[in-house]
Amino acid sequence: MYNKHMENSNRVKSIEPSKSISLSAKIAELKEQGEDIIGLNVGEPDFATPAPIIEATIKALKENKTRYSLVQGLDQLRDGIAYYLNKKYNLNANKDHILLGNGSKHILYLIFQTLLNDGDEVIIPSPYWVTFPESVKLAGGVPKFVETLDNFQLDLNAIESAITDKTKVILINTPNNPTGAVYNEESLNKVVELAVKYDLKIVSDEAYEILTYNKVKHVNISSLSEEAFNRTLTVQSFSKSFCMTGFRIGYLCAEKSFIDDVNKLQGHLSGNNCTFAQYGALEALRLDAGLIRILTKELESRMKLAHQLFSEFFPIEKPDGAFYLFPNVTETIEKLGLKNSEELSLYILEKAKVAILPGIAFGKENHLRISFAQSREEIIEAHKRMKEVL
Ligand SMILES: Cc1ncc(COP(=O)(O)O)c(C=O)c1O
Repeated sequence: MYNKHMENSNRVKSIEPSKSISLSAKIAELKEQGEDIIGLNVGEPDFATPAPIIEATIKALKENKTRYSLVQGLDQLRDGIAYYLNKKYNLNANKDHILLGNGSKHILYLIFQTLLNDGDEVIIPSPYWVTFPESVKLAGGVPKFVETLDNFQLDLNAIESAITDKTKVILINTPNNPTGAVYNEESLNKVVELAVKYDLKIVSDEAYEILTYNKVKHVNISSLSEEAFNRTLTVQSFSKSFCMTGFRIGYLCAEKSFIDDVNKLQGHLSGNNCTFAQYGALEALRLDAGLIRILTKELESRMKLAHQLFSEFFPIEKPDGAFYLFPNVTETIEKLGLKNSEELSLYILEKAKVAILPGIAFGKENHLRISFAQSREEIIEAHKRMKEVL
């Protein structure tokens, strides 16, 4: 009877470990054994954090900006973010609509803890980023997966059919990880219509907002109408846009009463986000737009290169955003006599020493997620090695 006390919670037992993080651990182990692995599994560009951001962070440290600060984030930073969003998406936000967190993962956790009661359902278009269902489950919620269309755009009829009286949220992620799809204004307007019709919230993860290609533009759903703004919890991150993954700066933009409730929770959970890192983020907002254009242009050319090379092995849709290819690998799995995408990614790791994530980690069998955020040399070398074993 007493040894029950040695067990961990059902809450934690119910969640899946992050497949990308466990693969990273395996790769680190192989590297330690002297293996030369190319990591096309990673979710971050290989660019250095822009120098002005580093300098501003060092300056903040030297000025002893090392103490507790406001739980919701520094006033100047929240002002700066509101200004950035208003200018970019024609919103009418102010600092009371913004709350900083330790990366957008933390923001997602805060949102679902604030929003969900046991059994509340969250509609998640599939394929999906690994953290979505787990952060829903951690809050007692139930993820309801809805397949996207063949081109990975939203299937709005299927979404509407999945709505029940327990549904509280429609979650969208555009530009999308893992598919690279960018949702157009028409389908986002329909998401808002559904949210109004069934009285739902929208959680919109826009961590890749600046990374779009092929002249496609990212649409911020909360900017579509006042009603859209009031229902949407926009999740944003400095990680991908400004090459600041290790700073852990993400933020939420939402109507004030929701921010106030999240702030109550945050006050007991982690308190303020790292104070001096926030000064780095403030500087990121002041960066010359030319620097950001260089980043997106470089990623677009890597996308074209990777798309051209890997299309030799499998059919691949050209992604409009984020930094992943998401090919259908059914034929390759069959040809090699393997069972599934996980076996294929292990095969490629062991034989070609290239790390790629299996589609099943994102809820989609028979696919692989190939990151093109690494250097051109690595993309070319990965292709060469894979050609020998596929
Ligand atoms: C869709 C999506 N949202 C959020 C994140 C996490 O970003 P952060 O570093 O802000 O926690 C990622 C990272 O891979 C992502 O793919």
